[in-house]
Amino acid sequence: MQSLFDQTDLAPERILELRRKILRHDHLYYVEARPEISDRDYDALFSELLDLERLHPDLVTPDSPTQRVGGTPISQFTTVSHAVPMLSLANTYSREEVEDFDRRVRETLEGATPEYVCELKYDGVAMSLTYENCTLALAATRGDGQTGDDVTANVRTIRSVPLRLHQTTISSAIVRGEVYMMNETFLAINEAAEAEGEKPYANPRNLTAGTLKQKDSRQVAKRQLEFVAYWLDTADVNLEEHSTNVDLLRQMGFPTSPAVRLCANVQEVMAFIAEWDEKRYSLPFQIDGIVIKVNSLRHQQELGFIARLPRWAIAYKYEAKKTQTKLRDITLQVGRTGVITPVAELEPTLLAGSTISRATLHNQDYIDELDLRIGDTVVIEKGGDVIPKVSGVVKEERAIDSMPWMMPQTCPCPRHSALHRPEGEANWFCNDSFCPWQLRRRLEHFVSRDAMDIDGLGEKAIAQFIEAGLLKRISDIYQLPNRRSEILALDRWAPKSFEKMFDGITASKQQPYNRVLFALGIRCVGEGVAKMLCKHLTSIESLQGASHEQLTSINEIGDAIATSIRTFFDEPDNRDEISSLKAAGLIFASSAPSLVSQNFAGKTFVFTGELVSITRRQAEEIVEAHGGKASGSVSKKTSFVVAGAEAGSKLAKAVQLGVPVLSEQEFTAMINPRVSS
Ligand code: IVH
Repeated sequence: MQSLFDQTDLAPERILELRRKILRHDHLYYVEARPEISDRDYDALFSELLDLERLHPDLVTPDSPTQRVGGTPISQFTTVSHAVPMLSLANTYSREEVEDFDRRVRETLEGATPEYVCELKYDGVAMSLTYENCTLALAATRGDGQTGDDVTANVRTIRSVPLRLHQTTISSAIVRGEVYMMNETFLAINEAAEAEGEKPYANPRNLTAGTLKQKDSRQVAKRQLEFVAYWLDTADVNLEEHSTNVDLLRQMGFPTSPAVRLCANVQEVMAFIAEWDEKRYSLPFQIDGIVIKVNSLRHQQELGFIARLPRWAIAYKYEAKKTQTKLRDITLQVGRTGVITPVAELEPTLLAGSTISRATLHNQDYIDELDLRIGDTVVIEKGGDVIPKVSGVVKEERAIDSMPWMMPQTCPCPRHSALHRPEGEANWFCNDSFCPWQLRRRLEHFVSRDAMDIDGLGEKAIAQFIEAGLLKRISDIYQLPNRRSEILALDRWAPKSFEKMFDGITASKQQPYNRVLFALGIRCVGEGVAKMLCKHLTSIESLQGASHEQLTSINEIGDAIATSIRTFFDEPDNRDEISSLKAAGLIFASSAPSLVSQNFAGKTFVFTGELVSITRRQAEEIVEAHGGKASGSVSKKTSFVVAGAEAGSKLAKAVQLGVPVLSEQEFTAMINPRVSS
């Protein structure tokens, strides 16, 4: 083939023919989604064109399909100004607001009955394309609406953006639309990123925006971005209606939304909104609402703009979301107290802008109530708390051979100890104190910031040390400083990181008793309970020796906590652990001098916002050391609110209730009056 065209002057003609063919097949494939030839035949056309262009570099034009693969990286994007400003849309969230919009429109148009066009609001990145002589001359991002970035090199790689306009009477135009990414593409890219140990992207929009900002267009070419056109401006023909503009855009070779509907009145608009409220989950890409536009361009002009918002269009945003996906498996998670939590392993799916692949199923009862079975199609919901939950099952899609799920009888860890469900409890527990999964969580809890706060010993190191047999129980942490050579032989360890951990472990021996008690991870003993216990039973010996009755006589300590404490201390392994930790030098008694003064006796402090010189916890400990109380919420009884940077509702409440508000400096001056001046 090559030699044939090499020597003849047929090359220019063949090149043009190949480009025409490729462009047509690109359009059929990327815009109309009905390819006529196989990938193989397409590739043959493409490589023939590449070969010819290589032999005739003078014949390469910017609109050749070969120019989509991306070129030399650039160092910076050029700023360009938009010939027509790029506007934003006002958002609405309710039927009433849409009705208000319609009322305003009709009032301004003084009796005319406007038609509306409803469209999907693609959740991507707005793009303005300028065509001159039918050729793509510029692609620019919105930026601030007046000026944006020239991202032409990147946008050229998007297959559904025509590099040349199809034959119409239009040769110069501004076309606007959205660059976006298919859910499937997004999930695949994320999966690959995670496999590489990279942080996954939050949603397709972020990934699209990040891709368009790439300085190397060859990278963009690999990302399979899509384009949909929704706005046209040209002086080449007379434009009258938005809906006919959309038809024109399609004729010019652009993909347009499959769901553009002309509505005669606001009732039809409402019907469109309701219809897509359900149907939106079946779309292969993300939308974040519906756009409603006045159809007549004359009406649009009459309505005009306020600020940067058109008065002829609005966006309707849908409520927080639901979606469906497959329940691939139910796995078990082991908590630090041995509690076993079933977890839904889901086929990754997008929900309200983030990828969901796991969700807690709490316990067996939760699963039984929903009648969840592995392989089921399940409904995932995000409530106000943004934590995704499995809220239902699509029973019609259930496989006939599916079986109810049963809690396994053994722990998922390699020791496979038997699980127990205490009477009256919804949870199952693994009571094996050598369970390695539990150990990991217990260790993570022990070193955590609010517990022993051991710097330099994080989750990764813990997993590594368990694996290497260096950590079998909590007290082994205090042996780590003696195992320098073994640790330095492990991956990712260097003298510097070892020193850091060494110092962290040494410093932790100064942590007060209440923190040590909390760090032990006794079931039901959180930070507050630990503090309470320390006040009444000031040493571990007295706590260990306290009967159930003695424990429950303490205010706020009920049966469950008392039982849990007794169970913990009745276990010989736990008593051994405490002896080892004592031997290591940890503090196991409340020291009387921890009360520095009685200056704050009877006073309650609330800390809010970000403190600079100390942490909130340290501040609370200082208050307690001076005989005062620290609380989390503001009431009339609060003596002082100490407000740091960006204090919010608690500060507002203090002001409202007339509670005195202190700055951080004023607070520190109260503790140490001499330093303040
Ligand atoms: S029309 C003046 N139509 O939403 C009208 N915008 O919140 C300008 N968007 O910047 C936009 N789908 O990025 C329009 N069918 C659609 C849209 C759409 C998504 C985006 C666009 C715009 C943003 C405004």
